[in-house]
Amino acid sequence: MTQKFFTVAPMMDWTDRHCRAFHRVMSRRARLYTEMVTTGAVIFGPRERLLGFSDAEHPVAVQLGGSNPAELAQAAKICADFGYDEINLNVGCPSDRVQNGRFGACLMQEPLLVGECVAAMKATVSLPVTVKCRIGVDDQDTEEALNRLTECVVAAGSDELTVHARKAWLQGLSPKENRDIPPLDYPRVYRLKAARPDLPIAINGGIKTWAEIHQHLKHVDGVMLGRVAYHEPEILLSVDGELYGEEPPVADGFEAVEAYEPYIAEQLEKGERLSNITRHMLGLFTGQPGARAYRRHLATEATKPGANLNTLRDAVAHVRVKQLEPVE
Ligand SMILES: Cc1cc2nc3c(=O)[nH]c(=O)nc-3n(C[C@H](O)[C@H](O)[C@H](O)COP(=O)(O)O)c2cc1C
Repeated sequence: MTQKFFTVAPMMDWTDRHCRAFHRVMSRRARLYTEMVTTGAVIFGPRERLLGFSDAEHPVAVQLGGSNPAELAQAAKICADFGYDEINLNVGCPSDRVQNGRFGACLMQEPLLVGECVAAMKATVSLPVTVKCRIGVDDQDTEEALNRLTECVVAAGSDELTVHARKAWLQGLSPKENRDIPPLDYPRVYRLKAARPDLPIAINGGIKTWAEIHQHLKHVDGVMLGRVAYHEPEILLSVDGELYGEEPPVADGFEAVEAYEPYIAEQLEKGERLSNITRHMLGLFTGQPGARAYRRHLATEATKPGANLNTLRDAVAHVRVKQLEPVE
């Protein structure tokens, strides 16, 4: 039996390096993804700012947005030199900006080009090259569209496919609506796996609980969680145990904060603002007494000049105090 795997989805503006370092504190095994970075940004932009990450984040994949094979190959090489563990191609983002650049989800309509992109990257780097896609776009037939895309990326040597189990509607829906409105079709992804037993396939979209994760893993090799992993990060505490039979690196949210403190201290030392780090921690303690006061404290105090580790500790104290209160 192949090892089942868990990944945290690439999310623009959310899964930056601070977020990934925080997630890594809670699981040694979850594979983490960067936000999407366009080939133009990688090739011409401020590389260290866009691509820099800390050693602790491994295993970490960079997600590229683009559709020019030569540029993708060049960008993949730069990312490989930065030390990423995997190069992922975005074939799922529906934003207008991305459509104008003829990449993201609209590439579902150009499977041969996607194959060329994957082949160009595979020829240039020795890392796994993977693809994240949808089941189709607009009025495409999802059987045909996903089969065709898979055929092309497999022929090009793609090492894995993550499928967001809904269509993207390219006209009329915002990217946010495109994450909720087109209906989920998990069985479509299961059928793909049944037809492609040798290709590692992860399923993504709307997955919230371990019961759901285990159900999906009866049919596919991996699960990718996005919003739930971000908004309720404690779910990551169970990844190493549930899928690898290993102890989690920390036991709970309190220990996660403690384990993350040295990273925060290092970043503050470099001049980073506390709120840029703690904004990714607001979901911690969700559902626990004191969580609201914790969030409010961070939201108001972490942005102030001079905010430091004590600011975070004071926020956490709101939860700690509540948990020490005697239960009547
Ligand atoms: C704020 C946000 C930003 C996202 N940015 C990206 C991105 O850069 N690349 C990508 O492939 N998907 C992106 N997505 C989509 C997610 O990777 C994922 O496919 C989607 O949220 C469905 O998974 P979920 O229901 O577990 O959240 C983004 C989602 C969110 C919420």
